[in-house]
Amino acid sequence: LSDGPLRGKRIVVTSGPTYEPIDPVRYIANRSSGAQGTAIARALAVLGAEVIFVTGPADVAPPEGVTVVKVETAQQMLEAVQGVLPADAAVFAAAVADWRVASASSSKIKKTKGGLPVLEFAENPDILATVSQMEQGRPDLVVGFAAETDHVIENATAKCARKGCDWIVANDVSHETGIMGGAENDITLISDAGAEDWPRMSKSDVAARLAERIAQALA
Ligand code: C5P
Repeated sequence: LSDGPLRGKRIVVTSGPTYEPIDPVRYIANRSSGAQGTAIARALAVLGAEVIFVTGPADVAPPEGVTVVKVETAQQMLEAVQGVLPADAAVFAAAVADWRVASASSSKIKKTKGGLPVLEFAENPDILATVSQMEQGRPDLVVGFAAETDHVIENATAKCARKGCDWIVANDVSHETGIMGGAENDITLISDAGAEDWPRMSKSDVAARLAERIAQALA
């Protein structure tokens, strides 16, 4: 392990959903098993990287051989990432909730006759954009993800440009693809070199191939 091509490289990986509390017993979240992010962290560690794995509450267990930082909310995830930088690369595979409840209740919201609760939202920080746009200490390689349902390449390319990342891993998550929560992924890697369509393969094969590419880029 220790003499792999990523030996001496420090890489931050975010993974899983974030949970944004409504009250002590309820939350809003995005759908995410954490499977792809976990596989990426594992593959980077196998190539010898020092991996800091910042994860929300995922379905799958974190990999062996990485430093695990567990968080719940997007704000905690941003603080955790900022706290573990600098790094040579950062891979943002987490499905971060775009909004949090503006003033989460500290006690359980009761059902009241004839009244429904109204939630007000506030925008969460964009962790990928924040790190991509760092003026000092930005990782050499910042990789984002884009789950899209249509115009996948156009939307993902625009997203990467807007946020300032170097690469974006685009995947089609339309209902019929069965990718969300599944074992396989069908991705397009978008970089300066253009859009590279990978064949459908297991999430662990996607991770291994992406880790190899990251090793080449950092070499
Ligand atoms: O804008 P969208 O959520 O589609 O962007 C997806 C990419 O941005 C992923 O890499 C995700 O981890 C990252 N992201 C983030 N912080 C947010 C929202 C998304 O890091 N608040």
